[in-house]
Amino acid sequence: MDEQQVERLVKEHGLEAEAARSYLSAADEYNAEEERILGGVFGQVSGPVVELGAGRGEFTRELLDNYLKPGQRLYAVERLDTAAAKLRESITDERLEVINSDSVRLPLPDGAAGLVVSRAALHDFVSDDGDVAAALRDCVRVLAPDGVFLVYDKVSDGFADVERESAEGRMERMNVELAALEGRKCWGLHRSGDYRALLEDLGLGEIMLTLLDTPDFPA
Ligand SMILES: C[S@@+](CC[C@H](N)C(=O)[O-])C[C@H]1O[C@@H](n2cnc3c(N)ncnc32)[C@H](O)[C@@H]1O
Repeated sequence: MDEQQVERLVKEHGLEAEAARSYLSAADEYNAEEERILGGVFGQVSGPVVELGAGRGEFTRELLDNYLKPGQRLYAVERLDTAAAKLRESITDERLEVINSDSVRLPLPDGAAGLVVSRAALHDFVSDDGDVAAALRDCVRVLAPDGVFLVYDKVSDGFADVERESAEGRMERMNVELAALEGRKCWGLHRSGDYRALLEDLGLGEIMLTLLDTPDFPA
């Protein structure tokens, strides 16, 4: 355990040292499991990778730093012009191409990608009609026949009423309301079973589901 991180949580967030240690130890386990899963997926794919809903590029950087091979192309798809422009400015890596586009139509040929991946993005996916399957159909088109479609997202499993029971749930509710102000629909938080149904609806086979417990930040 990194004692400097413990000290930082104690100083900056006023946590008790023991609470900080137990949070960091749970976070270490979560991160190790995430690395194990992503390492396994990247070990079996070849060819270009498409990242959906890249946003500010936190996951984009992780993919480039830890998982992409030399020379492997990463297409980072982001629908918002400003976010896509910032992404282009902030990451300089010749493997990266930022695609400023809605996922509903991707400027890529059929079967171009060995992996289509998204992290913490689908619950935030915005479309005209709220039909997230329709927003993703073109992303399946660009997947090679033996490719992997990896969705990595927050789910509301374990909560009876996620908006009432968690700050995260209330925050995600706000995203749904903000999209409604634009006259659009944001998918919002869902249960893991809804993701399975979505992937089946997209015609994907051999669906595997893993649930990771994110440690709660101590109050
Ligand atoms: C929560 S953010 C992504 C966070 C990022 N993946 C990460 O791990 O740091 C979700 C992003 O998806 C984008 N997005 C939403 N709907 C989209 C769509 N239909 N096509 C492409 N991007 C979309 C949003 O603009 C937003 O930037």
